[in-house]
This record gives sequence, structure tokens and C-alpha cells, in this order.
Amino acid sequence: MIVTLDGPAGAGKSSAARQLAQRLGFRFLDTGAMYRAVTLAGMQAGIDLDDEAALARVAAEMDLELTGERVLLAGQSVTRAIRTFEVTTLTRHAADNQQVRKLLVDRQRAWAAAGNVVTEGRDQATVVFPNAECKIYLTASEGERARRRLADLLANGEDLTYDEVLQKQRARDAQDRDRPYGGLARTPDSIEVNTDGLTPEEVVDQLEETVRRVRAELARR
Ligand code: DC
Repeated sequence: MIVTLDGPAGAGKSSAARQLAQRLGFRFLDTGAMYRAVTLAGMQAGIDLDDEAALARVAAEMDLELTGERVLLAGQSVTRAIRTFEVTTLTRHAADNQQVRKLLVDRQRAWAAAGNVVTEGRDQATVVFPNAECKIYLTASEGERARRRLADLLANGEDLTYDEVLQKQRARDAQDRDRPYGGLARTPDSIEVNTDGLTPEEVVDQLEETVRRVRAELARR
């Protein structure tokens, strides 16, 4: 079974999806980490991130391993390094690069072929797994998302204000939505879950309930 979780930045997708996968005994794929890793690999290689062919080469050649919560690039842990404000801002180069997207979509499909998975991103239901059995669209209000993002960045040792985070978030929302290929969109068959006012545990509870309900419906058919 494939469970897709799409939605805007800061809706709490990553940690919720990871815990959901744990509860279900499914594997978890954080596709945002893949776009971030391509960006970091490009920065480390010293290429111009606007050079589409060069960045696509980096994506094709990078040695990326996603194991549990850890992200390894050429054997080195980049779990925290891919979540800095700088990498977050620059990741649009990878996300807007069609060649990079195609490479990562192929990797995501190959990764999911092995069995039950929860995948998380922007285009999982629309582009990567249009036939997924359970599609979830996770949202939260703009203010709540910015507050959560700020808390994460502060915990990661960065020094930013709420307004800075909110402004960047607005820009990123627009970029994510308007991307011509792989842009954030809700499919008609997605189930929407709004996480405003819910604790992280309540979010996972709702997601688990949703997946179990869909699974039971499928079994009855
Ligand atoms: O979910 P995230 O914040 O880690 O994602 C980082 C960036 O990558 C985000 O700006 C959108 C992009 N992204 C994408 O275009 N497609 C995906 N499947 C996942 C992320």
C-alpha cells in the first residue's frame, strides 16, 4: 500500500509522516530531503545552482542514503545541514529543475516498489504516485506554520524573527504552488487534514485513523 502525504511547508508533514509510518510498520520516504540534498551537493561541488544541466549531473551522480531519520551524502551525515535556512531558500533551484525532478521521481518510484510506504512531499499524489491507495493533503494556517518553522530553526541554532520566516514562507508557498511541473496541488481524491490546534500526537492519531479507514474500505471491495 502507498500512502502519500502532500502539503505546504510547515504543516508538520515530516514528523507526522515519519511517526505514521512507524505506527503502520511501513517504510518512510521524505522527498523534500532529496531536493535539499541535491541542493547541498551542488553547493559543495561549487557549481552555479542556476546551471540546470550541472545541477542535474550532481543529482544523477550523488551518493544519497536515507536511513530512518538520517540523511547521508557520500557517507557523511547531512541530516541537520540540509535543514538550514540557506539550504531551505536555495532548494528552489533543485525543485524548479525539470531534469532533477525527473531523476528524483524515478528514484522515489523505485524506492516505493518494495512494498508498504508512506511518502511525503508536494507532488506525491499528483505526479509520482497517482494510483496511491491513500492520498492525504495536510494543511495548517499560515501563522501556525510559520510559528512551527521558527521553532524548528531556533532549535537548529539559527537566529531569525517570526516576520522573516513568514515572508520566506509566503515566497516559498507561491513557488511551490506555481511550479509548472510537480507544483503543490490537492487532487480531488485526497483527504484533507488540517492540523491547526492539534498536538503532534493528535495529528498522527488522525492520520493513522484515516489510513486504517481507507484500508478497511479497500478490503471490503
Ligand atoms: O518539505 P521540505 O520543506 O523539506 O521541501 C523542501 C523543498 O523541496 C520545498 O520548497 C519544496 C520542494 N519539494 C518539491 O518540490 N517536491 C517534493 N516532492 C518535495 C519537496
